[in-house]
Amino acid sequence: MLIASTLVAGTVAPGDVKIENIAVSESLTGMAGNASEGRKTFANRKLGNCLACHANADLSEQLFHGEVGPSLDGAGARWSEPQLRAIMVNAKAVFSDRTIMPAFYSLEVGENVRKDLIGKTILSAEQIEDLVAYLLTLK
Ligand code: HEC
Repeated sequence: MLIASTLVAGTVAPGDVKIENIAVSESLTGMAGNASEGRKTFANRKLGNCLACHANADLSEQLFHGEVGPSLDGAGARWSEPQLRAIMVNAKAVFSDRTIMPAFYSLEVGENVRKDLIGKTILSAEQIEDLVAYLLTLK
């Protein structure tokens, strides 16, 4: 798994993100995400690897779609932007501690973490914002 590099100035640090009522209202980067970059991150098996668990008709050119999680068709209509950001930051804080969806922008990634991964998040703040922008296009 590729790991997000060090924080860019102006970015909210993982430990400082507040999830309230299943929502994170402010952009983590202070900027709007880029939906077409988010689409690439979604499909990238080494980054979000979202397709391992989620079907998504918008990416029908990709061969394998997992079914462990719900289909994300219409996710942008089911959830608001702050809700999608909360889900992307830490699905465990939104659904349950036991969800198998990874916490993509959290330092609480579980026990027995490889030493070189301690203090890192799976995705960067920018990648989270790009994914939020992309998910909002799935209507
Ligand atoms: C290891 C499997 C797994 C991976 C990888 C994963 N998810 Fe999930 N996701 C789930 C499961 C399971 C749920 C349902 C929540 C629960 O556990 O009840 C979920 C729920 C969601 C939801 C809410 C679904 C709805 O009802 O509309 C969204 C949005 C979502 N995931 C987006 C993503 C994105 C984007 C990625 C990639 C960055 C991703 N997920 C990666 C397993 C996964």
